[in-house]
Amino acid sequence: MPEVTMENGDGDVPEIVVERTLALIKPDAVHRAEEIEEIVLESGFTILQKRRIHLTPEQTSDFYAEHYGKMFFPSLVAYMSSGPIIAMVLARENAIGYWRELAGPTNSFKARETHPDSLRALYGTDDQRNAVHGSDGVTSAEREIRFMFPDSIVEPIPAGMVARDYLARAVNPTLLKGLTELCKQKPEDPCMWLADWLLSNNPNKPQVADRYAVQEPM
Ligand code: CDP
Ligand code: MG
Repeated sequence: MPEVTMENGDGDVPEIVVERTLALIKPDAVHRAEEIEEIVLESGFTILQKRRIHLTPEQTSDFYAEHYGKMFFPSLVAYMSSGPIIAMVLARENAIGYWRELAGPTNSFKARETHPDSLRALYGTDDQRNAVHGSDGVTSAEREIRFMFPDSIVEPIPAGMVARDYLARAVNPTLLKGLTELCKQKPEDPCMWLADWLLSNNPNKPQVADRYAVQEPM
């Protein structure tokens, strides 16, 4: 049988859509954050942004507004504002779905029965204190990332042709020069050397023309 590949219509490179999602380590699991982050990285996610925050009950109510009016809402708000949480923007292919799969079922008891390797099975306590949160779709991921990281830019990450065009225009010409020079010089720490080279050869760095030089007072 012929092998099935996902073509993007312009050649042989399969289209990989890098997605972002918001992950929270909830108050009951913050003391296990290091272990959880290790699992996150081992599972192929990149942590793009991370912060530790202690939300007020008002901020927590805003964050969980979709659950307003439900029986568990008041205790959910009390729990989520009871201590610091860790918010992370995670990226990988199909990040939203994979992160929810890794988190496991909402109820930690059920998670231990049906998904014993999930984070909620491993680190959750009960049906409310379930260790982690994950956005449930593209729209909520955007909203939740903005909520926790108001300064972040949530435009889609370019992929396929768009990414190749961008790289070809914005970095490849400079990188090619830098890498050629790197091969000539063969420095001991090539990455540090390239980093320094890029800093001093960045074509976008602000240039101060001589004629604008400020004359020091005599
Ligand atoms: O977090 P997830 O998307 O899996 O579940 P949800 O239905 O969106 O609920 C949000 C959070 O409310 C859960 O993660 C639980 O912490 C809490 N919850 C609760 O306390 N009692 C329930 N019966 C359901 C959810
Ligand atoms: Mg949810």
